[in-house]
Amino acid sequence: MRFPTRQGMTILSNLSFITIAGLNLAVFRGSDGRAHIVDAHCSNLKVNLALSGTVSGDYIQCVKDDWKFHGDTGKCSSVSKSDSGQLRGNTSKLAVHVHH
Ligand code: FES
Repeated sequence: MRFPTRQGMTILSNLSFITIAGLNLAVFRGSDGRAHIVDAHCSNLKVNLALSGTVSGDYIQCVKDDWKFHGDTGKCSSVSKSDSGQLRGNTSKLAVHVHH
């Protein structure tokens, strides 16, 4: 399924991996229909979120340890139960390249 964006880019599914100018990016559409483009690699152990992550609402979640990042801010908002001690003070973020 194709989703048009305001800038003419086409997102082929709800989660795609693209490389532009040497940047590995995860592209996804949130529950409100807005497109998000963030760094593809999880800030925890660098798993490729675009290839093995999931989208839930406006978040992209890593399958490895369940860290969850908001598409607007890139901020890590939850971690797995086994990592729960790491959420407090966790400043992990993904770089956000586009959200609209
Ligand atoms: S590698 Fe992504 S949460 Fe651990």
